[in-house]
Parts: sequence; C-alpha cells; structure tokens
Amino acid sequence: ATMHDQKLRRGNGGELHQVAEGTTPTLTTAQGGPVADDQNSLKIGERGPTVLEDFHFREKIFHFDHERIPERVVHARGYGAHGFFETYESLAKYTRADLFQKAGQRTPAFVRFSTVAGNKGSFDLARDVRGFAVKFYTQEGNWDLVGNNIPVFFIQDAIKFPDIIHAVKQEPDRAFPQAQSAHDNFWDFISLTPESMHMIMWIMSDRAIPRSFRFMEGFGVHTFRFVNDQDQSTFVKFHWKPKLGLQSVAWNEAVKINGADPDFHRRDLWESIKSGAFPEWELQVQLFDQEFADNFDFDILDATKIIPEETLPPIAVGRLVLDRMPDNFFAETEQVAFMTQNVPPGIDFSNDPLLQGRNFSYLDTQLKRLGGPNFTHIPINAPKCPFANFQQDGHMAMRNPIGRVNYQPNSWGEGPRESPDKGFRAFADAESGQKVRLRAESFADHYSQARQFYISQTLPEQKHIAAALTFELSKVKTPVIRERVVSHLLNIDDTLAAKVARGLGLKVLPSPADAAVPTRQDLPPSPALSIIKK
Ligand code: HEM
Repeated sequence: ATMHDQKLRRGNGGELHQVAEGTTPTLTTAQGGPVADDQNSLKIGERGPTVLEDFHFREKIFHFDHERIPERVVHARGYGAHGFFETYESLAKYTRADLFQKAGQRTPAFVRFSTVAGNKGSFDLARDVRGFAVKFYTQEGNWDLVGNNIPVFFIQDAIKFPDIIHAVKQEPDRAFPQAQSAHDNFWDFISLTPESMHMIMWIMSDRAIPRSFRFMEGFGVHTFRFVNDQDQSTFVKFHWKPKLGLQSVAWNEAVKINGADPDFHRRDLWESIKSGAFPEWELQVQLFDQEFADNFDFDILDATKIIPEETLPPIAVGRLVLDRMPDNFFAETEQVAFMTQNVPPGIDFSNDPLLQGRNFSYLDTQLKRLGGPNFTHIPINAPKCPFANFQQDGHMAMRNPIGRVNYQPNSWGEGPRESPDKGFRAFADAESGQKVRLRAESFADHYSQARQFYISQTLPEQKHIAAALTFELSKVKTPVIRERVVSHLLNIDDTLAAKVARGLGLKVLPSPADAAVPTRQDLPPSPALSIIKK
C-alpha cells in the first residue's frame, strides 16, 4: 500500500486517523476483527473512565506487555545474517555428513555473531570474546557449530561455567560493569583459576576488539569427530578464516567508537551485506587420528589448548558466504536457538568435558528462553529437509501428528519409522573407568601455550597485551588480586610480568604461582596464527 491509498480523517479530538482505502488493508485485531478507531480507547463519555470491555485496547496492550523474552544468559547481544556454505571437495572419506559429500554442494546457513558478557543493549566494541555461531540447514538435519573467535576457552570443565559467567557479568549488588571485564570479581576468579591463563592472553590481545565481524576468525574450539559410512572416526577441529583477513582496532579507538556508535559492528554487517559486499569465510579443518592424539603434547580434550597449525596444518574444505540480512531481527536473530548437540550423521562429539556439559546446557536454556518444547516450530529453527516424528502438543504447537497414529510401532502402517542405515549412529568408542570427580593429569599444564601465544605476537601486539593487563588490573581495587595475577604472568613471560607489575606500581614482584606441572619452555611459538602473521 502506498501513501496515496490512505485517506486522512480528523477525529473529534483533532487527532488524525489513517483510514483504509483502495489497496490499503484494513487494520485488524490478532483475531482478525476489523478495527474502526485505533486512536481512542472506549470510554464512558468523552472524559470518562476506560471500559474493561474494550477488547481491542486490551489485546493491543497485552501483546505489547509481552514483547520481551528473557535475553540470552550469555551472548545476549548479537547480530545475524543468512547465507550458504559451499563444499570444495568431497570429504566422504572422513565423514558421511551430507553437506560434505560433493564438490560445489551448497547448504543454507544462518550465522549469529555476539559478544559474551554484555547485556542486549550494550556496546559492540567491548573487550570480550565474540560468538561465531553457525546453523547449517543440511539435508540430514541441522548442524550447529557454536563457536567463538578465540580458539580456546577459560575453563576446562562445564561445571565451572556458571562461576566464570557470574564473575564476568555485572556484580550482583551494584549491577555494573555491564560489558567489560575490568573489575574485581572477574580478576578474582581468573587469579584463582590458572587454567584460564591461555585464554587471558588472547582476551588481553587485539583479538578481543575486532574491527568488525567481517574481519574475525571463528573456531569450533573443541575436538569433534568426523565419522564415515564405515563408522570410522577421525578427530577434527574446525576453524573459520575471514577472506578479508584478520583486523582489530586499538583500545583507544574502541573507546571512541563505542561512544560515537555503540552499534558499529551491526551497522557494518548490515551495510556491507545490503550493498552487496558479501563477507566470506573459509572453513578449515585439522584432522588427526588416535595415534596423533596419544602423542600430542597436550590433551586433545582440553579446551584451553590448541593444536598448533605448524604441527597440524589445517585443510580448507569449503566457504561460507553471508548474502542476506534477516527481514525481522526478533523473529530470526533473537529467536534462533543454537545447540551444540545439533549434529547430523557423520559428525560426533569427543569427551571434552566442556563440550559434554554444553550438550546439556543449550537445550535446557532454549526451553526456558523460547518458552517450551516447540521452539523448533519457529521458522529460523526448523529444519529445511523433510522431517517427521510423533512429538505433539505443548505451548504453541504448530505441527501435530495428522490422523490417528502418534506412536510407533503401530499396526496401521502409518507414520515415520527409524532407519538403521540413514540414521545417526553414535561413534562406538570404548569407554570404561571408575566414576570419579577428577581431572586428568594431562590437563595440568596451564602456562606453556599462554607463553607460546605471547611470544608469537609482534612487538606492538605484545605491548598491547601488557597495556591491556595494566589497564584492566589498575581498575581492580584489591591489591592481593593484582599480585596473584602477576604471579601467574611470571610463569608465562618474565618481561611481561615485570612490565605489568611496574605499570601497577607493585614495589616487589610476587613469587611465581605454583605450577602444578613443569611448563614446556622448549615448544615452538606456534598458536593458530596463520592470518595474524601475514
Ligand atoms: C550461548 C559459544 C561454553 C552455555 C553461546 C553462544 C555462543 C557460545 C556462540 C551464542 C549463540 C547465539 O548466537 O545464539 C560457546 C563456546 C564455548 C561455550 C565457544 C566454549 C568453548 C559454554 C558452556 C556452557 C555454555 C561451557 C554451559 C555449560 C551457553 C548458554 C548460551 C550460550 C546457556 C545461551 C544460549 C541461548 O540462550 O541461545 N555460547 N559457549 N556455553 N552458551 Fe556457550
């Protein structure tokens, strides 16, 4: 409808009514009832009280009152786009996953980028991890690769997730800071959690303030498995490399941009895609077998470690192109539900205790956030392949079984059946052991890869890390927390520790933190840094 179709009419209070005419549709209630007057509630007399029987008024207000849903408990602020994934060559040798079978095969995808700590309305250029969550709508069900722009994580076991997130988000009494790590609670937790040191090096580096989403890497972080049609497994780590290269902004730039335009990253994605400059990432995989895993210096189940690209060069297997913005932010970007447990046949999990915990957490949180068990009925979450099951009812059910049959086996010859050939088969890994709450000794070296990362940086980048640590810790009011962090830095790099200590005005250097196992000074500096080196 155009403006020409609309007739303006003035009401008895002087207010303007836009009245349907020509092709302009008539305004209706959600029940379809045509509305005569959307400017005035129903009253007893012109100046009297509003009557309860005004169903149009009540419906309009009640719907408005219910517009907000809980924001994500983490990664609340995000921005998404549609696109496709294209496979370069068949990976059938390694995986039966439908999307990797044929060269040139395209799979629709939706991606949501996010910050982790800030609330939904926080600013884009916080020093923070960025989420890089990809939903592939494969022909054998949705695959969610729910990753970050940093290849390691703060903690090794999912049971610590509520603690790290409580510590990083706003403090419970004062409700600040909303979007930054510069505060006592966060650094207190970090200083008491040596396994976070590798991640801390990344988060204090320029990696944590991307220039835009288009210049960001992405990582699946955990070790996953590819499983082929002979049920053979190959371990795999997933990496996204931006075609535009990796770029960040400096801290003082970030502070200014946040003030001038808190929507800087979302505006950048909107404008580039709307103008036809489609951002693109290459998917690279590191593939390895059990023997490699057994001989690797660290545990491949430890999400605080990478496998250096020099040790195991990644192979490019396809590209992701984002070419369409959502029509509606809420319907798509806000309601999209990523879950690590969404894997198609051919992709499987490892025993990484962080991944195992995530596989529970994401379903649980979607049930809460999206209001019940039918969130896959929302178009953005629905598969784009044929699907059929006997699930029924619940709030907002849009798809119920048709006819008499809602169970199987049944004698009516109706409804879907399981398929041993086509269906998902969990990789039959042999598992045994005592039921214990223990962490393997192979998870105990918390400093070697932190050092590798630090010394692999260029001098200006190393300076930025020292400056970031000094700035962040200078906001920490409790001296013992500052000293404890420096005592960890002494296990990473003496010069770095000394610089930060000097910046903080520490009179004496603390002794190095107690390292559970000797660190590996002799390892080559070689984190996953192919692009930053260029
Ligand atoms: C959300 C990544 C660890 C629980 C997210 C999102 C990403 C992400 C990208 C945002 C998804 C979106 O855009 O909608 C990661 C990575 C992790 C990690 C890479 C570690 C390697 C964990 C752990 C837990 C967890 C250990 C819990 C045990 C959640 C929850 C949400 C979330 C509850 C909110 C989901 C929603 O409401 O839609 N995570 N996460 N995450 N993550 Fe994680």
